Amino acid sequence: MSVAVYPGSFDPVTLGHHDIIERSASIMDKLIVGVLNNSAKTPLFSVEERVSMLKSVTRHIPNVEIQSFDGLLVDFVRKSGAKVIIRGLRAITDFEYELQLSQTNHVIAPEVDTIFLTTNLKYSYLSSSIVKEIAEYHGDISAFLHPEIAEKIQEKMALRESMK
Ligand code: PNS
Repeated sequence: MSVAVYPGSFDPVTLGHHDIIERSASIMDKLIVGVLNNSAKTPLFSVEERVSMLKSVTRHIPNVEIQSFDGLLVDFVRKSGAKVIIRGLRAITDFEYELQLSQTNHVIAPEVDTIFLTTNLKYSYLSSSIVKEIAEYHGDISAFLHPEIAEKIQEKMALRESMK
């Protein structure tokens, strides 16, 4: 059985991520989306919220599982019984970091390979950070996110403003 892990911060999941999830799930028997629980970063959404949002927008894809992880990605990949990491490549600017990540992971876990899917052209400019910035200034984010996620981010921004 072919099992792959698609890791990331997903803070929050964008339509670009969603596209990579759908396409990689269609070529693997099982896809585990690994949501990084990184205590060094302060994400907008907690890891529980990110997992729950991903579960909600991928509920129509039967061979996708959503899990959180901390520590080394390759340890999570090994525990998951996977041999493949999936990453999306948007543009040449992603390449250097992604090359470093995949080569480092391959040195520490030689049985694990990274497969890159090029991001759909429609989403090649898209990032969670840019979406958060637009939302912070009340811009229209509906072209970038699943409607459920757009609603969550607007709720989160409103909550943050009410606490100022
Ligand atoms: O969505 P992101 O933030 O680009 O994802 C980055 C991620 C989660 C793939 C990367 O930060 C990661 O793998 N972190 C886990 C820690 C780790 O294994 N670091 C060594 C990799 S060289």
